Formats: sequence, C-alpha cells, structure tokens
Amino acid sequence: MKYTRMPIEKESPEEFGYGNIACNLSESSVTDAVLQDLNISLQDLTLLYCEHRGDRRLREVIAAQYPGIDADDVLVTPGAAAALFMIHTSLLESGDHVIVEHPNYGTNLETPRAIGANVDLVRLTFENRFQPDISEFQRKTTRDTKLISITNPHNPTGTLKTQADLQTLIDLATAHETYLLVDETYRDITEPKHHPLAATLSDRVISVSSVSKAYGLPGIRIGWIICKNAALMETFLAAKEQIFITNSVVDESIALQYLEKKDPYLAAIRAHTAANFAILKDWMPRQSVLEWVEPQAAVVCFPRFKAELNIDTALFYRLLVEEYKTFVGPGHWFEMGDNYMRIGYSWPTTEAFREGLAAIETAAKRAMG
Ligand SMILES: Cc1ncc(COP(=O)(O)O)c(C=O)c1O
Repeated sequence: MKYTRMPIEKESPEEFGYGNIACNLSESSVTDAVLQDLNISLQDLTLLYCEHRGDRRLREVIAAQYPGIDADDVLVTPGAAAALFMIHTSLLESGDHVIVEHPNYGTNLETPRAIGANVDLVRLTFENRFQPDISEFQRKTTRDTKLISITNPHNPTGTLKTQADLQTLIDLATAHETYLLVDETYRDITEPKHHPLAATLSDRVISVSSVSKAYGLPGIRIGWIICKNAALMETFLAAKEQIFITNSVVDESIALQYLEKKDPYLAAIRAHTAANFAILKDWMPRQSVLEWVEPQAAVVCFPRFKAELNIDTALFYRLLVEEYKTFVGPGHWFEMGDNYMRIGYSWPTTEAFREGLAAIETAAKRAMG
C-alpha cells in the first residue's frame, strides 16, 4: 500500500477549523447531530469487544429497511470509509483492473490507487448531465475486471443513476463474473423517490452506507456493507477483524438507539434539506456567475463558473474564505478544475446558507478579470 493524503482531507473544514468558518457550504452531509438532543442512554454499557459482524440487533434494524435483506447480509464497519477500504483491499491486488467513475468520493479512487490497481476511469461530464455513458463500462469490462465501482446518489454531483443503467451494470458484472460496488452513502436522505438498494438485486452487488451523511452522525464511526454473497462477506469480516477486531461498542450503541427511533429525526432532516434546496433552486437562475446540473438526490450539487466569464479562481477562493468566511468544496478536491465547486446545501442553517450563496456571487464578481 502506498498512502497519499487527499486534498479533500488536508483542506477539510475540520482541519481548517470549524471556528474559522461562518458559512460552511462545503459539507456533503446533513447538519451534525448533538448527543444531548438524541435521548441516548450509555450509562449501563459494558465496554467490551462486541460481536465481530456488529451487534445483531443493530444489524437487524439496518436489514429491516430493505426487502430481502437479513442481519447476516449486513457487516457493520467503522464508517463507510472503512467499508470501502475493506472491500478494495479484499478484492484488489497490485495491477488488477478496476473501473471507477470520476469524479467521485476520494477514497473510491485513492484506495485502489494506493493498492497499485489499474484504475480505469469512466468520466462523468457536465455536458452529459453527470450521467455515465454505460456503453463505456461495457467496452472496458473484461473477464479480468475485478471490480466495477459507482456512487449512487453521486458525490459530488447529487445525480442519480437510472434504474435501467443500474440493472445494465449488474448484468455486466454478472456476465463477467465480477462485482459491482455501489456506494449508497447518500441513499437514505431521499429514499422515497429512489430505486431499491442495489444489493437487494443481485449477489454480485456490494452496497455500502453509513449513518454519517443522511443522519448527521459522522462522529460515531458507523457504516455497513450489505451483500448477499456469504463467501464474500466472510472475507470482508476477516479484513475487519484484522484491522479493527470489532466496532466501538459506544458507537454501535448510539447508532442502534438512534436508528430504532429515527423517523422523527429523519422527517426534520428532510424538511430542512428541502427548505435549503428550495432556496438553492430559487437562487441559481437569478445569480449571474454559475451554471449547474440540478441535483436529484443527496445534499450536494456541482456547479461551474459560466465559461464566458474570466474568473481568477485562486483569487475567488481566497476572497471567499478570507473575507466572507465561506467554505465550498473547490473542484480540485475532486480532481476537477477549480471552475467547478461542490456546494452542500443541507449542513448549514438556512441563514448561513443564504449568506454563503450571496458571498459566492460577490466574491466571483470581485475575482473577474
Ligand atoms: C460517497 C461517500 N462514501 C463514503 C464516505 C465516507 O463516509 P463515512 O466514512 O463517514 O461513513 C463519504 C464521505 O464523504 C462519501 O461522500
């Protein structure tokens, strides 16, 4: 393994200091929850190693959300990031062929690279409304392909694959006896308009998610792998045991208590997300510097500066942070040009969100050549 720190982590708000940011539009999650608002009881918890697959009741609660999934199809992990690491290191060796869409959440690209895999990119473009050209996956996949990897809903663009495209990718993985990894970390925020959890559709699919993005609980490191292939799950469990042995029993207990009564929390989260999204949709056609592909899910969008404008992007980001205390995710966090930026619309309060949007337009105008 050859590890390199990613710009998205080096320059993240938690590294920069939350106290230095007034309008944080860089987050890809809903607002972080505060423990005392959640009515969680931890006093009688014994601080032991817990079940290696994750507490059975927790796995049952996770599984119950998805038809055809039971507790044995669920492996609880320290966040989706660890799940992705375990999957990549289990399935890939140096030189192995893996197909990954780009741009993407950094780890989905960086861990295969750290392994030394042959990372074959399928690029999503603004012009194609950030939808993949599925025929490109078809052309690239061979019997030697060890993994096909997508993120759905997508980060950083907030787009959703069509059900037909997802099924084509599953058929492709099946025909070539490979696996389809679907990072579904944003799924629960917008579930009602969504297609089924990908892992319910085939035992060639590995679904990954967590409590970080949809529930605002990234500070407990709880995620999960769902997969109906028992042999594969046994390998992922071996990886987990070698790295972590178990999850933190404290984290698991908080996650279980939260998920058992999540509906009112989720209703409030979805209401806040919808309110901020309405502000974004209203603002976008009225401002003069950005163009966008309207997101369909998740809590992010990935607009870019209009091509005809001559904007000094380095100056723009400097002004935005230093003078307006506003943070967005610059394109280079996603190996794209800094004319793109990720805007997260659910994390900030409505007031901070409005202020941050106004700052983007003002800073861009000031950075125009
Ligand atoms: C698509 C995606 N997957 C996984 C993760 C990792 O999330 P966590 O480890 O907090 O569950 C992130 C975090 O940004 C993400 O955007």
